[in-house]
Amino acid sequence: MERYISLSRAARLVGTTRTELQQRIQNGELQTFEGQLEMSELLRAYPDAQVEDNTMIERVERIMAEAVHKLPDDDTLPDARALHLRLGHLGQELAEAKASLCRYSWIIDEMSRLLDEAVEQGDTDLRALRDRFHRLLDDPSACPDFPKAAIARDRVLSVLEAHVRLLPSGHDYFVQGNESLLEAALKAGLAVDYGCSNGACGKCRARVVSGQVRQLRPHDHVFSEAEKLDGMILTCSYTPLTDVVLETAEAHGSADIPLQHIDARVRRFAMIDEHIGRLQLRTPRSRRLRFLAGQYAILKGSDRQGAAYSIASCPCDDMNLEFHVDMRLDTPLTRQLRDKPPATLHLEAPRGDFVLHDESEHSIIFVAWEAGFAPVKSLVEHAMQLEKAEDIHLFWAAPEGGHYLDNQCRAWDDALDNLYYHRLMAEAPSELDLRAFEVVETGLADHDLYVSGPEDFCERVTAHFTARGLPTAQVRCEPLRQGTTED
Ligand code: FES
Repeated sequence: MERYISLSRAARLVGTTRTELQQRIQNGELQTFEGQLEMSELLRAYPDAQVEDNTMIERVERIMAEAVHKLPDDDTLPDARALHLRLGHLGQELAEAKASLCRYSWIIDEMSRLLDEAVEQGDTDLRALRDRFHRLLDDPSACPDFPKAAIARDRVLSVLEAHVRLLPSGHDYFVQGNESLLEAALKAGLAVDYGCSNGACGKCRARVVSGQVRQLRPHDHVFSEAEKLDGMILTCSYTPLTDVVLETAEAHGSADIPLQHIDARVRRFAMIDEHIGRLQLRTPRSRRLRFLAGQYAILKGSDRQGAAYSIASCPCDDMNLEFHVDMRLDTPLTRQLRDKPPATLHLEAPRGDFVLHDESEHSIIFVAWEAGFAPVKSLVEHAMQLEKAEDIHLFWAAPEGGHYLDNQCRAWDDALDNLYYHRLMAEAPSELDLRAFEVVETGLADHDLYVSGPEDFCERVTAHFTARGLPTAQVRCEPLRQGTTED
């Protein structure tokens, strides 16, 4: 019997990315059925796949885990009830497979007996068929190779992590251990609707279309009896016991995320290099910041003066926010940080629409000038999670010594086959030699461009790429948000 698996699971099995699989589907090299891939076809397309080789996956997962300040630990194991249920399903599947095997075995014996009988009774027409049939039965190599290892690994993964598919978008992700459905969706880079993350606001409502879920914690939000019967749950308070399909709302752009006002604790402020300080804020557990990668915040200290800074961290860690502050500039925030970092800062966020194009599967070019790297860092992390872009080119231009997170960019380049880091140097934005961009000169119509830096820098870079065929509609520019005063 044929086995179908989701694109995400197929990518994990053969150690590739969803992007590459999507590319091969578009090229007609792989066929899908209702968005799923046939296991044997996958193995035909990847005959050399080392299904036991997890190196690439582990390296990427480690980078993503470090991005959210959390390393994998025992929490990645499902609880006993989930294991019990998933093993129960596996047992059921095994029982059905064994029953089918017995039935086919019986049919083969019967066919063999009927053919022998017919030949013995003088039916010479069937002799050649009978002999061929017996040869096939006796020769195990006559049968095409069956992807046993891949199926075994797929079954083990299905016990360790649950697969979630969202409707109507079709987005999917995996939930490990006792993570809530919401936490895992954010870690996968999905912009699902939510608010408080603690069961009070009801904004993360979803309907369970199929599969089983378990409540992780009590919640204050009350569902009517009709809603309960309809399968409504809160994604922040439930975890899946089996693979599930959920109907839920997702943001499609910055306009779908409300402006929030939050008092956040200053967790740490430290210089990363001579000029740039890393400011880390922590929101209260029940007032996390919902935002899209690439957006910015207005930070206000005790003087209530607002200063705009891009958020440099990933929306998947909505309690721990990072900002890169250029301490050479005189802004309301740098003045406070120089005197003595305040205990709390008031956040008004998110703002701006320097976010990834919704649903775009184009390759991506990121270009940043010096501290314009902050929103780009957030976007790169988001693009890595989504695994939609075929190639990601990251150009970071700065004066000598200005690439303050150079090691991080090199680590991305090392870990991901499709991410290319280009470190560019110039004394000033106007002095950057644009010939450095010539490494991506072909197929620019299939690229999205994100530029972050001073206005004239954005204009120069945009003009360079649009003159070579990159459509203007696929360009997003972000001015340097380094304490610009806004109300
Ligand atoms: S996010 Fe508020 S109830 Fe789930």
